[in-house]
Amino acid sequence: MSEGLILGIESSCDETAAAVVAGGRRVLSNIVASQVDLFRKYGGVVPEIASRKHLELILPVIREAVATAGVGLHELDAIAVTHGPGLVGTLLVGLSAAKALAFGLDKPLVGVNHLQGHIYANFLVELQPTFPLVCLVVSGGHTDLIYMAGHGEMELMGRTLDDAAGEAFDKVARSVGLGYPGGPQVEQLARSGNPEAVPLPVAHTDGPFDFSFSGLKTAVLQYVQRTGPLSDQQRADLAASFQRAVTGALVEKTLKAAEEKGVRQVILAGGVAANGALRQAMREALEPRGIALSYPPPVLCTDNAAMIAAAGYHLWRAGVRHDLDLNAVPGLGLGLEG
Ligand code: KG4
Ligand code: ZN
Repeated sequence: MSEGLILGIESSCDETAAAVVAGGRRVLSNIVASQVDLFRKYGGVVPEIASRKHLELILPVIREAVATAGVGLHELDAIAVTHGPGLVGTLLVGLSAAKALAFGLDKPLVGVNHLQGHIYANFLVELQPTFPLVCLVVSGGHTDLIYMAGHGEMELMGRTLDDAAGEAFDKVARSVGLGYPGGPQVEQLARSGNPEAVPLPVAHTDGPFDFSFSGLKTAVLQYVQRTGPLSDQQRADLAASFQRAVTGALVEKTLKAAEEKGVRQVILAGGVAANGALRQAMREALEPRGIALSYPPPVLCTDNAAMIAAAGYHLWRAGVRHDLDLNAVPGLGLGLEG
């Protein structure tokens, strides 16, 4: 078998991305054209505009990924593409491009679940995470605790019952007057705040590994309404207190899940895994107990196509091939629920 040269394509939200990855771990190129600047003035992604932007960007981005990698299209072993979850119109742009390439080049097409992609960003390193492990996926749309016994062997242990962690960051950002996307700005603001200044509730959940963040988000909003116009210090204190509450809940449940399964490895995935306070709190909780922690570098935590190529590589090796009638599935799950 060849080394496994995979072209990954990602367009599930507001990043048009293409990457070439060898052997599921060596990133030869990773091109991300972000539409974040475009959507700042709207305070969020406008799906119709995003789809049109993807259409403009997709071919140049793919061309750049292949050129930067220094490989010929004919050398690829497979085309891996996100087919859900995400916005249907934006997903279709990447998916159509991937199908056209697969058909034109006569290469296998491998559809990848975006969340599985986030998880596999952790495998884009020489020293691979060791199984069995517990993975915390924290993105804009999902918060899941997953047990992985090996590649493709996943069990859902818990998830958010309401808002995703990233969604809570984005909503809190808005209520303290910060722009889109909120997570990185809340993190920045929290640096000059006191995390103990504002007492905030963290909801109890019946499931031992489930999360709930909507009460926390509401408490932040009520604090803002009650206090009136906030001073800069009050805003920073609120951001720090909120970040402490979210990371506290994430750390507590992740540690509990790791201990329940007796794993020696935890990995973090998704946009919120870029958060420095979360990484540090996790490390402080896990390392003294002999549990190794790993997470991707920040650029591989947020949406990119290298992670899609990495996940696609393992699917391709396992023999997964999709037909050209593969469809975009906006609500695609990991197939682990229920
Ligand atoms: O994984 P991602 O790029 O896209 C989805 O698949 O949803 O995650 C985006 C989310 C957004 O909610 C964003 O605010 C959050 O990740 N995020 C962060 C940070 N960077 C991105 N949240 C907290 N701290 C950060 N540094
Ligand atoms: Zn994502």
